[in-house]
This record gives sequence, C-alpha cells and structure tokens, in this order.
Amino acid sequence: IPTPTPEDKFSFGLWTVAYPGRDPFGEPTRAEMDPVYALENLARLGAYGVNFHDDDLIPFGTDDAGREAIITRWKKGLADTGLVVTTATTNLFTHPVFKDGGFTSNDRDVRRFAIRKVMRNIDLAAELGAKVYVAWGGREGAESGAAKDIAAALDRYREAFNVLGEFVHDKGYDLKFAIEPKPNEPRGDILLPTIGHALAFINTLDRSENVGVNPEIGHEEMAGLNAAHGYAQAMWQGKLFHIDLNGQTGPRYDQDFRFGAGNVRGAFWVVDTLLAGGYDGPVHFDFKTPRTEDDKGVWDAAAANMTNYLILRDKVKAFRADPEVQAALEVAKLPELAVPTLSEGESWADLERAELADPEELAARGAAFEHLDQLALEYLYGVR
Ligand code: GCO
Ligand code: MN
Ligand code: MN
Ligand code: MN
Repeated sequence: IPTPTPEDKFSFGLWTVAYPGRDPFGEPTRAEMDPVYALENLARLGAYGVNFHDDDLIPFGTDDAGREAIITRWKKGLADTGLVVTTATTNLFTHPVFKDGGFTSNDRDVRRFAIRKVMRNIDLAAELGAKVYVAWGGREGAESGAAKDIAAALDRYREAFNVLGEFVHDKGYDLKFAIEPKPNEPRGDILLPTIGHALAFINTLDRSENVGVNPEIGHEEMAGLNAAHGYAQAMWQGKLFHIDLNGQTGPRYDQDFRFGAGNVRGAFWVVDTLLAGGYDGPVHFDFKTPRTEDDKGVWDAAAANMTNYLILRDKVKAFRADPEVQAALEVAKLPELAVPTLSEGESWADLERAELADPEELAARGAAFEHLDQLALEYLYGVR
C-alpha cells in the first residue's frame, strides 16, 4: 500500500476533517475539532497543505483581539507541522445573513457585507502565502422563479469578482481566484452550476486571466456530467487552477465521499486526465467523513483519500506504459485524433474538391474501444 509524502502535494480543507457530522436531519455526532489538532494529524499522515474558510479558523463574530490570538496560534501550528497554506476561501453560506446569497443577494447591504468579508480573508490568505483563492457560491441561487432575476444576479456576480480582482491587483497579491461550480445544495438551483457555465462566466470578467475553476468531482457528477471531461476542458483552456477531489454515486445529494469511493471508474479517468494534462497544483480533497465515524474514522478516511489517489496513480501509469495498451490506442486511432483534419495549407475549397473515402467503407470500420476500455478495467480490477 503506497504511503503519501509531502512531495505528492496532498492538501485538505480544514472543514473536511473537522466536519462534525451535522446534516439536515441530525445533530453533530463528533466533537468540534481544534484546527491545530487537525494540522498535527494531517502532517502525521503525510499531507502537504491545508485550505480553510475564514470561519473554519476564526469563528464568525470573533473580536479583533481574539482573531489575532487565533492567527498567532495557527501560524505556530503551521510552523511546527511544516504544512503549507495552499488555498483559502470564504464562508458565504453558514450565517443566516447569507440565506439569499452573498454576491448575488437581492439585498444590496448583504452584498456589500459579503465582498468585505472576502477582502478581509484575502488579506489573511496572502499573508499566509496562499496562491489560490477559492470561491464556491453555494448560496448564490434560488428555489423559485420570480425570486431571482438571473441576468441581474450575474451582473452582480461579475461585479463582485471585478471588485475583488481589482483589490488583489492593487494590493499586489500573488493570488488567483478559482470558482467552484455546483448544481444545487444548499440552494434549489445554484448559479454557475457546472464547469462550462463557470468558464463562460469567467470570460466576461475584467481580469479574467486571474480567474479559473476549482471543479469538484462530486459536483459534476451530481449534474450527471463526466468529471474527467470537465477537468480536461478546464486544462485545455488553461483554467484548472485548483481541484476538489472526492467521491459521489450519481445524481443525488452532495455525498462528499473520500476520494476513490463512489464512482471508482470515474476516479481512474480523473487521475489519468490530471496526469495527462500536467496538472501541478495541490492535489486537494474535499470530503466529509460519514457521521457514523468517530475521530479514528475521520483519520482513516483522510488517509484513504491519499492512499486511493496513489493507488490510482500507479494503475494509470502502468496502464499508459503497457505496450499492449499502446498498441490498442494505435488501433483505436488515438494518434490520428491528434492530426489536424485539414492538411497544412489546405482550405475548405480544397476539401470541397478532394477525393473522399467511401462512407460505407468508413462505417464498416470498428472503433476498437471496447478492447481498450477492458484493458483499463483490468488494471483497475487489479488483474494486470
Ligand atoms: C460543498 C463545497 C464546499 C466548498 C468549500 C470551499 O460542500 O458543496 O464543495 O465544500 O468546496 O466551501 O469553498
Ligand atoms: Mn461537495
Ligand atoms: Mn460538500
Ligand atoms: Mn468543494
């Protein structure tokens, strides 16, 4: 069983391991977790980095003196464990003030409060060395039609990112934004529900070069989408700034299983896609340990995210290195897909005149994908 090391760049949200097991139907099943205790255990397990919401570390409403004391202790915890703050984010969803959203609340005073809350935590994120600032707009949405003017809400969403982009630029911070899509939960429908929506929205921003996406496997699968394809397109567009790896079983509530549980075959292709695309950011997990577990279960689950990633990474590499696989890729014409459809210097007019292959003959050619996929499955099942 492979062992994680800091070189693997595994990182965790503070809220993941500290999730106390509260759900819409039940009270927490575990005690509140001290953030420094979380650091110590993550370091012990071989993690590299952490990510936190402002309120994970500094409870909402803490006064300035209390805030400073918490930050001082947190910095000492980081120094003692060697963990890196890779990423930070803002909680714009727990406090009732955000019941109709932060950046897109109909209430202008709430929007002003939300942007200020983000600015304050960006200052801290930059001070702690974070390179990515995640924005998950979980409350930006609606349950009913007339309640939200979607075009106006998108105007306000864009305005918020433009203001924050200006803020980061003026302060000279080396920090990029990563928008995290999700189709629903906690709102009935959330704005920027998928990777595609987020990528299109980002193009409309003033400093769009500084904004990318933070796709979560489970969120894409909640929308019935292929997460690996989404990661691939985000990389193709130079926009995969961060990743939230976890597990999900089809379109249902946000399960946040540990990575490698849930859709195992999908997880294999996510790892393959990240390796192929050269993703080199933190390998970040956003999972929630089921509320059946105690503290030991939390750390078993945390470690399992990393173990499963390493297992799949080995399998993916072995699959790609296997001569039989390479031959199967050849037969399935993967190298041919990399060849432009028109020859160099050829125009549509040339194509109009060109001698084409007989469509009946083309239609009779088999794609040979089943054999190729079976080889992948045999690696996944552990018989190769
Ligand atoms: C969810 C989200 C969150 C975000 C986190 C970072 O539970 O639906 O994935 O966990 O990732 O709030 O902004
Ligand atoms: Mn999730
Ligand atoms: Mn979640
Ligand atoms: Mn997430």
